[in-house]
Formats: sequence, C-alpha cells, structure tokens
Amino acid sequence: MTELVTVTDDGAVRVIRMNRPDKKNALTGAMYTAMAEAINGANTNDTIHCMVIAGVPGAFSAGNDIAEFAQAAMSGGNLVRPAMPFLYALANNKKPLVAAVQGVAVGVGVTLLLHCDQVIAANDARLTTPFISLGVLPEAASSLIAPRMLGHQRAFSLLVMGQPLSAQEAKEQGLVNLVVTPEELDAAAMKVARTIAALPPQGVAIARRLMRGSPDELIARIDEEAKLFGERLSSPEARAAFQAFMTRKK
Ligand code: COA
Repeated sequence: MTELVTVTDDGAVRVIRMNRPDKKNALTGAMYTAMAEAINGANTNDTIHCMVIAGVPGAFSAGNDIAEFAQAAMSGGNLVRPAMPFLYALANNKKPLVAAVQGVAVGVGVTLLLHCDQVIAANDARLTTPFISLGVLPEAASSLIAPRMLGHQRAFSLLVMGQPLSAQEAKEQGLVNLVVTPEELDAAAMKVARTIAALPPQGVAIARRLMRGSPDELIARIDEEAKLFGERLSSPEARAAFQAFMTRKK
C-alpha cells in the first residue's frame, strides 16, 4: 500500500508529506499519528533543524476525513479525536516548521498553518475553514491564535463565516509569506527551510519560543476546543452535514 504520509530527511530538513491524492489528502487517524510521530521524532533528533509540511499537486489537505467524523458522531460524541496527538505535537513543537501549500486547504489543513513559522503557497491554493456550516467548531487552538495573528474581524470571516482565501488574499492577511507557481512550490519551501536550518539551532529555538509563548496555553485551548467540538460532533446539525457530504451527487 502507498504510504499516506511520507517522511524524508534531506540534510537538516525533514519533509513530512501528506500523500492521499485520491481523497485530496483528507486526514485519517493513521495519518495524524504518522505526522505526530514525525514532528515529535524531529524534536528529539539533533540533526533535524527544520521541518517542511507539504501535500500533493492540487491538495495540501481537505481536512479531517469526514467519514471518520461521521463514524465518531455515530459512536456518541464522547470521543478522543484521533487528531489530538497531532495537535499536541504542533503545540509542543520546538523546531521551525515551513508549510508548502497548494490546491485545497480545508479545516485542519488551514489551522495547522497557524503553527507554522513560514508559509509558502502556490497560486492555486484556496484556504477554507467551513467548521460552523459543518456543525463543528474551530480547533487546533485556532480560536486563540487566529484572532491574535489576523485580528478578530478577519479571523471571524475565516473561522466562523467560512469565507475562503486565495493564496494572494492569505498573503495580504499575513498568513502566507510567499506566493509562487505550483511548479516552484517545493523548491521555494526547501530554500526557506535550508536557510532556517543553516542558522544556529539553539538561537532559533529560543527566539521561536519567545515569539510563540507557552505551549501550555495552546494545549489548554486545544483541550477546551476539543471538549466542545466533541459535543458538537454528535449534534443533529453535524450529522446532517456529514451525511450530505457523503451522499452528495457530483
Ligand atoms: N473527507 C473524506 N473524503 C474527502 C474529503 C474529506 N474531508 N475531502 C474530499 N474527499 C474525497 C471525496 O469524497 C472524493 O472521493 P471519491 O472520489 O471517492 O468520491 C475525493 O476526495 C475527491 O474529492 P472531490 O470533492 O471530488 O474533489 P473537488 O476538487 O471537487 O473538491 C474539496 C475538493 C476539498 C473542496 C471537497 O472535496 C470538499 O469540500 N471536501 C470536504 C472538506 C471538508 O469539509 N473538510 C472538513 C473540514 S472540518
């Protein structure tokens, strides 16, 4: 079977690539686990100075697998989301993270970007977080980080109203550093990652920690969001939205 997440170390840069192109990189529990292990592993490996998180042509990630959401909703909502170890890994991560975003970026495919230090986007990237219309809630501490990063009103447009952002719009809002063509994306992300990896790693880690604040604050918010998210997951609104997606006619 093809690996749904590939992890490749290229010198001091670890590339974590979501690789489920037939489902637009919708994330399953196994994929979250693989990504969490790759991030946690990099944090205890002195040879890795920087990470890149990437997708495939046309898809950074379509967000959480909706079939898995629906399954969790049917099992009563009191669940430990398979995404949690991944979200904790992002919150606890001490090493710089560069995102290479192309095509669709939905839900956690957008909120994970708030944990990245540089975001390079292809001009075909389209970012959306349709949490509320899906019957669920913003996660990954996005309810804390996005208003700080974008300002409340822009964060509200994104996270509550679900308004999509093009790569250029995301750059104007400060979510993206650089927009390139899809063909240029991987090389552009690696160039930034190698530049960061060449800096003194301890200095980078200390500065990053000072700029990002305490992981405890992020983890407390992730837990608070997850509790409410779990309750919303089994709501009639959420069940209806998942059903509508899974039975839609193309
Ligand atoms: N969960 C499960 N399967 C998903 C998925 C998701 N989040 N996103 C896409 N897929 C699947 C589709 O069901 C389809 O599978 P099929 O070929 O077996 O029918 C395949 O991936 C391709 O998706 P498709 O919708 O045909 O591609 P598209 O380019 O027309 O649209 C999206 C891409 C991402 C805009 C659209 O698939 C979508 O809206 N997905 C749901 C995103 C979402 O709400 N995520 C949760 C956020 S909290």
